[in-house]
Amino acid sequence: MVSRRRTVYEGKAKTLFEGPEPGTLVQYFKDDATAFNNQKKGVITGKGVLNNRISEYLMLRLGEIGVPTHFVRRLNMREQLIREVEIVPIEVVVRNIAAGSLAQRFKLEEGSLLPRSIVEYYYKSDELGDPLVSEEHITAFGWATYQELDEILNLTLRINDFLCGLFIGVGLKLVDLKLEYGRLWEEDEMRLVLADEISPDNCRLWDSRTNERLDKDRFRRDLGKVEEGYQEIARRLGILPEAGRGDLRGPDTMQ
Ligand code: TMP
Ligand code: ASP
Repeated sequence: MVSRRRTVYEGKAKTLFEGPEPGTLVQYFKDDATAFNNQKKGVITGKGVLNNRISEYLMLRLGEIGVPTHFVRRLNMREQLIREVEIVPIEVVVRNIAAGSLAQRFKLEEGSLLPRSIVEYYYKSDELGDPLVSEEHITAFGWATYQELDEILNLTLRINDFLCGLFIGVGLKLVDLKLEYGRLWEEDEMRLVLADEISPDNCRLWDSRTNERLDKDRFRRDLGKVEEGYQEIARRLGILPEAGRGDLRGPDTMQ
C-alpha cells in the first residue's frame, strides 16, 4: 500500500518512497505536470505510466553502453526501484537545436541547428527559479567539484550522442534534454551516476519530418493532444503495446 510507506521526497512529477533494502528507493511516477516553476499546473492522464516505461527503456539502453545509472528495475506500471543517491543540485541541459529559453535569450529561430551541442547548468532551487549558472558558481559554491563537473560533461555529451542516434532511428529529433546526476557511495568509493528520469517531461522531441512537437511543450504551450504526444514517443520506441496486443515489441526502426 502506497500510504504505509515512508515518503522520502515529494516532487512535482514523482514521489520517492523508502525502498525494500537499504540504499534503495522506489520512484513513483505521477500524472501531475507543472511548468514555469509551478505557475502552471495540470494533469496529463497516463503520463506516469508512460514516463516510467520510457525512462526504464532509455536507462537500460544507456546502461548497455556503460553509462552508470541509478536504475535497478521496474516494479510495476508506475514504480521503479532505484539506487539511493545524493543528487548533485545542478540541472544539466544539453541542446542540439535552438528552442525554449535558449532561443529566447539569444533571439534564435526555434528549430535552427546549433553550431555544436551546447551544455548549460542550472542551479536546482525552486526559490530562485533554477537560475542559469556557470562552472565558476558551481565549484565556488561547492555544488560540485572540478573533477565531478569534468565527468558530468563527458557523460552528458556521450548520453546526448547516443540518444540522438537512438531517437533518429525512430523518426525523432532530440532537440534538447535535461539530466541530473547523483553521488553513489560503494564502500569508500564515490561514483557519479545518471539519476532522475529521461522522459518527454525533460527533453524536447520533434518528429524528424514535420517538426511536430511530441513532448511536454504540448502542455507548456497549450498545443493540445498532450497525452497523444507522450503515447506517440512510447509507441515509436516500441514500448507501448499496440491496441489489442499485450506484448512488448522492440523499437520500430525507420529507414
Ligand atoms: P528550456 O529551454 O526551458 O531551458 O528547457 C531546456 C530543456 O530542459 C527542455 O528539454 C526541458 C527541460 N527542462 C526541465 O526538464 N525542467 C525544467 O524545469 C526546465 C525549465 C526545463
Ligand atoms: N519542470 C517544469 C518545466 O518543464 C518546471 C517546473 O517544474 O515548474 O517547465
